[in-house]
Amino acid sequence: MNREVVIRTDKLTKQFGDFIAADQLSIEVYAGEIFGFLGANGAGKTTAMRMLCGLSVPSSGTATIAGYDVYSQTEQIKKHIGYMSQKFSLYEDLTVRENIRFFGGIYGLSDKQIKEKSALLINTLGMEQMAAKLVADLPLGWKQKLAFSIAILHDPDIVFLDEPTGGVDPITRRQFWDLIYNAADRGITIFVTTHYMDEAEYCNRISMMVDGQVKALDTPANLKKQFNVATMDEVFFHLARSAKRKGD
Ligand SMILES: Nc1ncnc2c1ncn2[C@@H]1O[C@H](COP(=O)(O)OP(=O)(O)OP(=O)(O)O)[C@@H](O)[C@H]1O
Ligand SMILES: [Mg+2]
Repeated sequence: MNREVVIRTDKLTKQFGDFIAADQLSIEVYAGEIFGFLGANGAGKTTAMRMLCGLSVPSSGTATIAGYDVYSQTEQIKKHIGYMSQKFSLYEDLTVRENIRFFGGIYGLSDKQIKEKSALLINTLGMEQMAAKLVADLPLGWKQKLAFSIAILHDPDIVFLDEPTGGVDPITRRQFWDLIYNAADRGITIFVTTHYMDEAEYCNRISMMVDGQVKALDTPANLKKQFNVATMDEVFFHLARSAKRKGD
């Protein structure tokens, strides 16, 4: 099958002094897919994601995002992507509506577009009662759903989500994934990190990162087959264990 590639990296590397945080990453992500980016704490996920978003200059290797080069075309990249960082990305001291207006302005939407999109977003999330509240006063799950909806306000080609459901309860996590599926149905490619293995099952394909390197990349079903195990947890443990043995 000839699928359009929207993220392509070749030996993409980030070094901090002597320490290699992302080591020769070579991946391809297809248009419209939900791509899970998994790895233990410190594996290098955020480091890699920041390079893909044009926020951090790689030490070596190449990458194109929506066809744009991560070294020389970071401004174009930023126009074509959404990014929900691991640290909370909205303004706590602004209301829900003010945050939408603020980010809509940054994304270059017109006043009319912002008005229409605000109404739609608030309605879709069912946040009518909360629209005038400060974001600081919202429960975490609502903050995260709002942050995601704002990250895709400008209909980007790709949205990067760095642990968007960390610390969120199971029901809200499910609702969050409904939002992800809706966005994917609209053609937005999803690049998402998570530590929850049930969420890994929701992805079309998954890469598993260990100590800065991508050690496996396939569909959840194929990964389980490859390691001859029943769950994604076991795939994860298997990879982590074999990497540790090599390092001993
Ligand atoms: N600016 C920096 N300077 C030096 N080391 C860094 C820097 N940023 C990250 N690192 C190191 O790189 C490694 C990878 O960190 P990174 O934050 O990318 O991991 P992660 O996979 O996102 O982890 P987590 O699941 O905890 O978010 C860690 O050892 C971290 O300490
Ligand atoms: Mg991280």
